[in-house]
Amino acid sequence: MMSQNQPVETQETYPPSSDLVRGAHVDAAGYEARYAASVSDPEGFWGAEGKRLDWIKPFTKVKDTDFTLGKVSINWFADGTLNVAANCVDRHLATRGDQTAIIFEPDDPAEDAKHITYRQLHGHVCRMANILESLGVRRGDRVVIYLPMIPEAAYAMLACARIGAIHSIVFAGFSPDALAARVNGCDAKVIITADEAPRGGRKTALKSNADAALLHCKDTVKCLVVKRTGGQTTWIDGRDYDYNEMALEASDVSQPAEMGAEDPLFILYTSGSTGQPKGVVHTTGGYLVYASLTHEIVFDYHEGDIFWCTADVGWVTGHSYIIYGPLANGATTVMFEGVPTYPDASRFWQVCEKHKVNQFYTAPTAIRALMGQGNDFATKADLSSLRILGTVGEPINPEAWNWYNDVIGQGRCPIVDTWWQTETGGHLLTPLPGAHATKPGAAMKPFFGVQPVVLDPQSGEEIHASPTEGVLALKDSWPGQMRTIWGDHERFEKTYFSDYKGYYFSGDGCRRDADGDYWITGRVDDVINVSGHRMGTAEVESALVAHAKVAEAAVVGYPHAIKGQGIYCYVTLMNGVEPSDELTKELRTWVRTEIGPIASPDLIQWAPGLPKTRSGKIMRRILRKIAENDYGSLGDTSTLADPSVVNDLIENRMNKA
Ligand code: WTA
Repeated sequence: MMSQNQPVETQETYPPSSDLVRGAHVDAAGYEARYAASVSDPEGFWGAEGKRLDWIKPFTKVKDTDFTLGKVSINWFADGTLNVAANCVDRHLATRGDQTAIIFEPDDPAEDAKHITYRQLHGHVCRMANILESLGVRRGDRVVIYLPMIPEAAYAMLACARIGAIHSIVFAGFSPDALAARVNGCDAKVIITADEAPRGGRKTALKSNADAALLHCKDTVKCLVVKRTGGQTTWIDGRDYDYNEMALEASDVSQPAEMGAEDPLFILYTSGSTGQPKGVVHTTGGYLVYASLTHEIVFDYHEGDIFWCTADVGWVTGHSYIIYGPLANGATTVMFEGVPTYPDASRFWQVCEKHKVNQFYTAPTAIRALMGQGNDFATKADLSSLRILGTVGEPINPEAWNWYNDVIGQGRCPIVDTWWQTETGGHLLTPLPGAHATKPGAAMKPFFGVQPVVLDPQSGEEIHASPTEGVLALKDSWPGQMRTIWGDHERFEKTYFSDYKGYYFSGDGCRRDADGDYWITGRVDDVINVSGHRMGTAEVESALVAHAKVAEAAVVGYPHAIKGQGIYCYVTLMNGVEPSDELTKELRTWVRTEIGPIASPDLIQWAPGLPKTRSGKIMRRILRKIAENDYGSLGDTSTLADPSVVNDLIENRMNKA
């Protein structure tokens, strides 16, 4: 059985209209020419593209990268200096100081939207920079940002960049424990948070989460608190600082720090197949060149366009395509605090109409959820401003693609299905709107400078012929690539460069069709993708076994109609503990507290035993099949220490649909 959301190859193609092609930055011939140039002469290509930024000291070197295991090192524009905030804000003041940089659309549609001009943004960023400095933050220090989707999140990111501090954003849906782990993981000096985060009509008490996290952090860590709702918070003098009050006093003069191109810009924790989340490190010059170029080309962004990416700034998509890419390009970017279904399933489309959005970028899980509510929510909105649609985060099933294309794009808007990762900094595979005839579910073509290869998972050999299927790797570096794992370069090499020597291994499987177009088939490791949120099964397992009644746990993904994948847990209880519905609830709550609501188990099956090899290794392949309700094709189970456990698991499987 194919997983429900796996794209099925189709012969249908959707060419862009000739009008669109005429106005586009890149047409078919342009793509071929620029792509060829980018791989035959990366120095020349990226040397020219690097000039899209303002450099304090221009770079003379372009690319210096090595994927050899044991000496992996990635440097771009290494001898240049620049400041990211100056590139995203200051340099626009002369030409578009009064243009809106950020449109803030609050959770509650009755609350007014805010339009923040580039000039106002400059003032906010400078004041926040001065506030951070007054709290003792210096160049190279880490600052954790734990904020809702409010403009202050953008000010905080850019303020860090301005003074050369490294930000690490923690998604506001993470629990105090997860927050504490990330604060300690990078030894942050300050947490920036808010009193409360309104979302979908409810409020999360962010400050009290931060209070709980701070109990597990060094007592020198300071907490800067933004007022969002005015909700009650407890206050510890000398540790907690009131942003709004300080901003009244703070100077709006702040000199941007001169940063090296390879100085870290941010850390962002993400899940892998083993162990705890790792701190992905992105640096200054290459990241910004790549975010800015992909934003312009992939979304066919033109001067004056209103761009809306619905992600949260807590994820890489929010970093690159709400903040850094759009602002580097002088765009107007929408920051939406709410959720797609509040007050009802028309919200996204109402916001598109209200702000006359031209490019709209979201995740397949949202499209599926909204599609399920019927067309009326969408058709009653005026969507005529939309020109380009995008998706990201997980494979999109053709049914959702077609709905997006027909009902939202009204057959007029190319869909860019962008494949990339926290690690890649920006899009790697995607169609370009004016260049490619899209196919429902295909990520299509490499972006400029990107050299994808399909490897045979067993031999590790490159497969040159098409059509084919295998694992997806990259042959050479691109400027937006992550540079290291914070504090653990060895883990970086081991995770990405050791399975297939000489390549960056993505962890995804893919097909390449007869036309040479790429289709992502999903993770081939123990990472699952729940509503477009990346989750390590190992993290959920370690949360479960931390519960006193749990002896052992194994977690796998299974196809879920809305979320893409759901979280399926096999749990072996301690001797003498009886399974019950209450215990199921208790474990669910437990995992939510340990990690956050996004990790909430969908299904928990009581497993008297887990299928293990004689050497004690859990056979996840078997557990995955049972969770997928595909137990007819379990394959060879003869190597199991106790084959009889499998029958019990099949009999009591939870996903009989
Ligand atoms: C998956 C999100 C299919 C993939 C930017 C990848 C996708 C992981 C797509 C990275 C897509 C992302 N089609 N799968 N268009 N985009 N993925 O780090 O499995 O949160 O490895 O970055 O999401 O997730 P991350």
